[in-house]
Amino acid sequence: MKRPIADAGIEMVCDTHRSQLIAIGFDFDRLRHMSVLECGGTGRDALAWQRLGAGQVTHVDLAPDNVARIKAYCDQQNIRNLRSMVGDILAIDLPAQGFDIVRSRGVWHHLADPALGLARYARWCKVSGYIHVNAYRGGVFFYYGNKLFRQLASHVDMALIVRVMREMGTPEGRIGCLLDDFYVPFMHTADQSIVEADFAAAGLTVLWPPARAWKAVDHDIRYPDMPEKTEHIQYWLRKDKHHDDAAGLAARLAYHQGVDDIALARQLPEAQCSLAAFERLVPLARAAAQTEKLAVVLARLYLAFHFDVSVMAMSADERHRRFAALLDEAAAGLRNDG
Ligand SMILES: C[S@@+](CC[C@H](N)C(=O)[O-])C[C@H]1O[C@@H](n2cnc3c(N)ncnc32)[C@H](O)[C@@H]1O
Repeated sequence: MKRPIADAGIEMVCDTHRSQLIAIGFDFDRLRHMSVLECGGTGRDALAWQRLGAGQVTHVDLAPDNVARIKAYCDQQNIRNLRSMVGDILAIDLPAQGFDIVRSRGVWHHLADPALGLARYARWCKVSGYIHVNAYRGGVFFYYGNKLFRQLASHVDMALIVRVMREMGTPEGRIGCLLDDFYVPFMHTADQSIVEADFAAAGLTVLWPPARAWKAVDHDIRYPDMPEKTEHIQYWLRKDKHHDDAAGLAARLAYHQGVDDIALARQLPEAQCSLAAFERLVPLARAAAQTEKLAVVLARLYLAFHFDVSVMAMSADERHRRFAALLDEAAAGLRNDG
């Protein structure tokens, strides 16, 4: 019988959970006595906790489809210790100190207010419990490009670009990447110094990764740079101190809007060519709003940006030159009537 969520995906996340817990010296025997809160997600990550033997798993996501899928999986597999609910992390009422592990992967930077999100994760975690968060790293080329793209994408409805990409034969996974980057309502890139100061203010101690200093602006890095993707900021934290008033705590934190990647790029001499090319493209995109032609140009531009320019190892100089050439090519495509 076909499963509502693929087992291979759940297994893959089990491996991630396992290796991360090993990295923080976690005692796996304790997991069966623990309750885990998975904040946001398609269901795979929450099911991986259940598969690893967590005592109780709670999953919250904004999307009813995700919750329906995970519930269908649990019904089919007779899983009784996982509850999934539709809810907004920034609004849902969950018990203070109700969970031993609070985990949120790929969600924190998409919250309307990440500082409030962190304060709520901290409130829900027990003292001596664990929190995992990750966020997109500000000051890197990839998110600079994405934030430019989000401005262009405001001129094309999502349904139009999806249709165009399907007609171009783009694999669904690649369409998914694009939609996430273009249309997710919030994308607040994070800065190491901001989030680490917020952790300290929230009474959270960094367990992993070991101390390091990232460059504030880093357009040279290659994506993906495994095993630790340098375009993500990722932490396992231990909660040492309880703050019951999450909103009050959030007011004292700094990660509300994240990093202005475009302002950072303006300070880079090598970024001037891509910034100027972007400025040449914007009025043409505005004039071509909601046309198939603009959707085709943006889809091609994004695929080349994502898979050729930002993935390859090259200097920041070269990266911006190539990106500027792609932006100018897109502008020529919009000017050209053919
Ligand atoms: C990129 S996915 C995370 C991937 C995830 N770790 C998994 O299990 O596959 C982001 C998820 O966060 C959810 N989300 C975004 N904002 C949210 C919010 N305010 N409250 C709850 N869920 C949210 C989305 O619905 C989406 O499922």
